[in-house]
Amino acid sequence: MCYFKFKWFHSLIIFHVLIATPISSLTESSTQLSTNFLDIAKKAEVFDWMVKIRRKIHENPELGYEEFETSKLIREELDKLGIPYRHPVAVTGVIGFIGTGTSPFVAIRADMDALPIQELVEWEHKSKIPGKMHACGHDAHVTMLLGAAKILKQHEKEIQGTVVLVFQPAEEGGGGAKRILHGGVLENVTAIFGLHMVPKLPLGEVASRSGPILAGSGFFEAVISGKGGHAAIPQHTIDPILAASNVILSLQHLVSREADPLDPKVVTVAKFQGGDAFNVIPDNVTICGTFRAFSRKNLEQLKQRIEQVIVSQAAVQRCNASVNFHDEVNPFYPPTVNNGDLHKHFQNVAVNLLGTSKVNVDMPPFMGTEDFSFYQEVIPGYFFMLGMEYDSSEPFQSLHSPYLKINEDGLPYGAALHASLAASYLIKYQQNVARVAGENHDEL
Ligand SMILES: *[C@@H]1O[C@H](CO)[C@@H](O)[C@H](O)[C@H]1NC(C)=O
Ligand SMILES: *[C@@H]1O[C@H](CO)[C@@H](O)[C@H](O)[C@H]1NC(C)=O
Ligand SMILES: *[C@@H]1O[C@H](CO)[C@@H](O)[C@H](O)[C@H]1NC(C)=O
Ligand SMILES: [Zn+2]
Ligand SMILES: [Zn+2]
Repeated sequence: MCYFKFKWFHSLIIFHVLIATPISSLTESSTQLSTNFLDIAKKAEVFDWMVKIRRKIHENPELGYEEFETSKLIREELDKLGIPYRHPVAVTGVIGFIGTGTSPFVAIRADMDALPIQELVEWEHKSKIPGKMHACGHDAHVTMLLGAAKILKQHEKEIQGTVVLVFQPAEEGGGGAKRILHGGVLENVTAIFGLHMVPKLPLGEVASRSGPILAGSGFFEAVISGKGGHAAIPQHTIDPILAASNVILSLQHLVSREADPLDPKVVTVAKFQGGDAFNVIPDNVTICGTFRAFSRKNLEQLKQRIEQVIVSQAAVQRCNASVNFHDEVNPFYPPTVNNGDLHKHFQNVAVNLLGTSKVNVDMPPFMGTEDFSFYQEVIPGYFFMLGMEYDSSEPFQSLHSPYLKINEDGLPYGAALHASLAASYLIKYQQNVARVAGENHDEL
């Protein structure tokens, strides 16, 4: 695990506590922007431009750390808008800057990668790359962040600090967020916002919650070794199929018997591989799976118990087992935990923009994961879901489905929310600094 990071995590956490605390006391005061960014985002000039960009990215999906064309497209658009950026950060990442160029800094983030899935939707802008598809809506995420950039650039004079645009690679398992952080470009950022489009939430509705919203996850691979031989002469073999089967049953007890029923956890074995013939006992079996929980502590405990159970249960059947968590390739994804003060900020901004009935601030947590959580470990962060339902009368297609369709009419909502959350955060931040300075002055 990446404990080496903790040293600088620690200093950043102290820094953020100092500056983040007073924000909460200001949630009552008005930080409404003078302009309604949703009206602007819906104008043909912005909307048509976004649709064009989204379709272009959709046609050319690229996997994690290979988002070269996507990254180039982003940079070309930023160039046209006159927005300076840093590149490359984390291979294909692009970090843009709008505003004064000075403190305070607030970040808004989009992920750029596609999935190794063959698109099965027949439409004019279907993926042109066999076996790859934007089946998680990251094409829309990139587009909405560019939309926010365009709107914010038009209102740059009103930005009371700097908005940092984070176009990150490799959300789908590659831990792109972690590599962006290693680059140090976000070290002075005091808040970060991210969103995910969801196909089952009506257009223009948002949902989120304060505290844990998505699980953290880890991955394991175990080889259970015995001694192969003739299936009819088991006494001369050590059967790894039976041992692996018992291992899988025992792993199920970690959640059913050892976990607090009110603190959700998941252990799933999703791969079982061994043997080639009906009459030969193989030498070994490989099993792979995932485990999920809502705190790092629970993840660490599960990890330890998974290894113990696999090794000990295999030994009961005279097998040896080795367990690999592939931490370097598949870093532990921490749980996504929303900052409480930013939750209030989100609620204010979203209600102003969309109306109370469109804002669900008490969404149930979900066992999926999101690498946005890496940012939240060092920067107060906030993640929310944006409804981009295509057509409620069609059968529901989840994220990662080859049949996923998204409603492009949702693009202005994401752009406006990103822009409004960031710009009003900076206003609130500055009001707060002024108020704290005023109070200190009074005391003298
Ligand atoms: C963050 O702020 C410090 C102190 O002002 C400065 O030295 C550093 O260069 C800044 N880092 C970035 C990435 O802007
Ligand atoms: C398990 O490991 C021990 C020690 O290396 C070895 O002697 C034994 O043969 C192994 N058993 C199996 C079934 O691979
Ligand atoms: C599993 O068994 C196969 C076939 O005997 C062998 O080639 C392979 O090296 C074994 N793997 C491990 C990790 O022991
Ligand atoms: Zn995904
Ligand atoms: Zn996604």
